[in-house]
Amino acid sequence: MAVGLGFYIGFVLLWSKSFRADSINEAPEGVIQTECRDRFLWLSVDKAFAGATPKLQAVDKHGFHPVDDNQAVTCGYTISNVNMNSRLTLRASYFSCYTQNQDDESFRFLFNVIVADGEDRETKYRVKKTCKLPLAWSSREIICEETYMEVTVEKHMSCTASESMSMESWNTALSMARLTASSTWQVMFMGDEDTMESMSFTDALDQGYRLDTSPTRVVFRTTYRQPHSQTVLVDGVATEVINATVYYRQKWVVIMLDLSAACTINPVTFDGEQLHWSIPRVMTPLVQDPSSFTSSQIRMGIDGQLLEETAWRSRGFDLEETGPIINISVPFGAQGGYRKSFVLDNTYHEIYTIFMFYEHVFSRVYADGTDDETRHRMMRLLETPMVCQNPFTVDETVLDEHRFTVMLGHFPSDIELVSMKINGVFLTIPEAFQQGYSVMTLSNMNRTHGYVLEVPFDDPLVHRAYLGEGLLLYSLNINYTLHVLPQEEPFYHLASVVAQFHNAFPPDITATCRESGIIFYIGKPTLDHLWEVGVGHELLTPELAKRRGYILTNDAQGLILEVPIFTYGYTYENITLKHFVGVFKITARDSKTLNIQSVATKYCSFQTVELLVCSTDGIMTIVTKTTTTWPKVLTRQITLRDKTCQPQEAHDARIMFSFALNTCGTKSMVGDSYLVYENEIISAKQYIPKDNPIITRDSKFRLTVQCFYPLTSVRSRFAGGMFLSNEPGFGSINMKKNPSANGKK
Ligand SMILES: *[C@@H]1O[C@H](CO)[C@@H](O)[C@H](O)[C@H]1NC(C)=O
Ligand SMILES: *[C@@H]1O[C@H](CO)[C@@H](O)[C@H](O)[C@H]1NC(C)=O
Ligand SMILES: *[C@@H]1O[C@H](CO)[C@@H](O)[C@H](O)[C@H]1NC(C)=O
Ligand SMILES: *[C@@H]1O[C@H](CO)[C@@H](O)[C@H](O)[C@H]1NC(C)=O
Ligand SMILES: *[C@@H]1O[C@H](CO)[C@@H](O)[C@H](O)[C@H]1NC(C)=O
Repeated sequence: MAVGLGFYIGFVLLWSKSFRADSINEAPEGVIQTECRDRFLWLSVDKAFAGATPKLQAVDKHGFHPVDDNQAVTCGYTISNVNMNSRLTLRASYFSCYTQNQDDESFRFLFNVIVADGEDRETKYRVKKTCKLPLAWSSREIICEETYMEVTVEKHMSCTASESMSMESWNTALSMARLTASSTWQVMFMGDEDTMESMSFTDALDQGYRLDTSPTRVVFRTTYRQPHSQTVLVDGVATEVINATVYYRQKWVVIMLDLSAACTINPVTFDGEQLHWSIPRVMTPLVQDPSSFTSSQIRMGIDGQLLEETAWRSRGFDLEETGPIINISVPFGAQGGYRKSFVLDNTYHEIYTIFMFYEHVFSRVYADGTDDETRHRMMRLLETPMVCQNPFTVDETVLDEHRFTVMLGHFPSDIELVSMKINGVFLTIPEAFQQGYSVMTLSNMNRTHGYVLEVPFDDPLVHRAYLGEGLLLYSLNINYTLHVLPQEEPFYHLASVVAQFHNAFPPDITATCRESGIIFYIGKPTLDHLWEVGVGHELLTPELAKRRGYILTNDAQGLILEVPIFTYGYTYENITLKHFVGVFKITARDSKTLNIQSVATKYCSFQTVELLVCSTDGIMTIVTKTTTTWPKVLTRQITLRDKTCQPQEAHDARIMFSFALNTCGTKSMVGDSYLVYENEIISAKQYIPKDNPIITRDSKFRLTVQCFYPLTSVRSRFAGGMFLSNEPGFGSINMKKNPSANGKK
């Protein structure tokens, strides 16, 4: 039972697999493409659809033949090495083994393309194509394919002496042919005149050569570096040569055909910008008698197809004859080739590859005016070594636009920008978009692309530095992260851009003295947003002005700030009973760094009436009228708590004291948020003159004077005799009648 079930399942699996493989499917459009080219069928399969390794089979009445093994090479099938374009490409010669040839005029190809899915299930697609010969055959054609050399010669070509042989070797060959010729085709490989080796087509096949006859031609195909081939220098160019002569006896005639091939195998050079491919103009192993040699045309192209001269010139190719050498040049990255990126030692490298095609049609002209034509074609993969590429940035910033514009370029399609560090802040490209930065992809005509980044100058990411004298710098350091696709290998590119302004002066500030205070005029700076105006540590805003009793107005020229005397922010100097100097300071500072760039300090002299000043260095200065507050007393009799402290000045009914807060009996108290110093101005007991002994009322008055300093602002309370406060204190005066002064004595 169990065994039976196993068989049953096995049978179903086998059956379903072979069923899928044998059913012929239609591939989606564009997945499999075919084209009849001059001398081969071009077939290409999209690897995105078919996977990395689709299998290809040639189909004929005998069955299926893989076209991707060594055998297939001498059969005339080439799987191209140029597969950087994500397609698998097959070139099948018109004389390839399993092709139905009709009179050398029409060629019918049949292929299977087998695609395996992830579970190893295979799907088979049938490709049928018939090519009508696009270009008439020349007497002799030599094709140097990527993997083989192919020579075809007209069968009926009557040749008395072979093109490539000297008379002596011809005679030697002829006598050898006479001895061995039979009515079947044979081939003779010639080395030097002494070494000749003759064999049947079947024996040649065993040695890796392919010889066939077609309706009108004989075909010879060999891979490179076979035992019978030699490398020779032709005008200094390394060339692989194989001398093959095919012969057979027809009645009493021995027919001999020269099927020699010559293909250059010299290395391609790269000078850093251009690839150079040197080819001897006269392929001497194929031309024995240069006097009868006539060149009819030399052309080139790519991917096995010829291009018009205008077309290759527009791609920057060049074809130059220098002496006996044809020099083909292709600039790095030229259209038609493939670029592949790599990261090596953290730097970005590229390889550029192009599959070039060269054709030289030449003839031998005979004395009787007839000629025979040779079409010599070579295909060659030109490849640069790994080239270290330096991405570059171009600073395209326009100052008037007030933003950085930085172009990074130019990359082939397998490079992608994924993130950036702008002044140390990491942003992926989607994050950059989200945060409103503009990162545009720039597509070039030559299929490269670049990136354009825009960052406004006033963006928080931008570094700003004011160097004085109106010189302002904005700067961006960018560390770009780019990926090589598809492996997402990262590399980095660093760029630094700086924008300079020379007219970034801070606002111009002037001031005038008024009786009631100071007026500041703050001009509008050229670069408005750069600067802000500060009073002390605080930014001047309408709210601040309102809170402190300043009057702030705006006009076309700028701001007008009116600061009434005694409002917050003043300091006072040189206080006398008559005058004092009020000092007010405003600053222009960098709105970003808050570095102060200019300070406007205005000193104005004001008339002293009354005042109480608590200075930052711990001095209380007080000017007060005695008349309004006290019964008329003699100013001489007024002191502080410490009776030795007398007024600095006294005149009319006004007095002035100025004393350090750790002297004259000053008391200090610490409150919740203030440090308070307190003293009293006391009028001494009324003096009764001896000459007028009238007992008057005791009129002892006290005036309490206080300085309040915010605790947070005090930095030193007379430690070592020094008082220091960040802010001046504010004062208060309270008159109090001494309660014990009434009704006594
Ligand atoms: C081919 O023939 C040419 C001319 O006879 C001779 O110079 C050359 O050495 C031969 N090469 C080989 C590989 O036999
Ligand atoms: C081919 O041309 C390039 C420049 O055009 C030159 O540098 C190089 O030497 C040439 N090669 C030969 C073999 O003439
Ligand atoms: C591609 O075009 C860009 C922009 O025109 C140019 O800067 C760059 O050099 C070109 N690259 C190649 C390989 O031609
Ligand atoms: C650029 O960024 C990469 C990745 O964040 C880091 O490894 C590299 O050191 C940075 N380069 C410089 C010069 O800061
Ligand atoms: C204060 O008085 C001194 C001495 O007379 C003088 O040198 C100084 O300039 C005055 N200060 C101000 C701000 O007027």
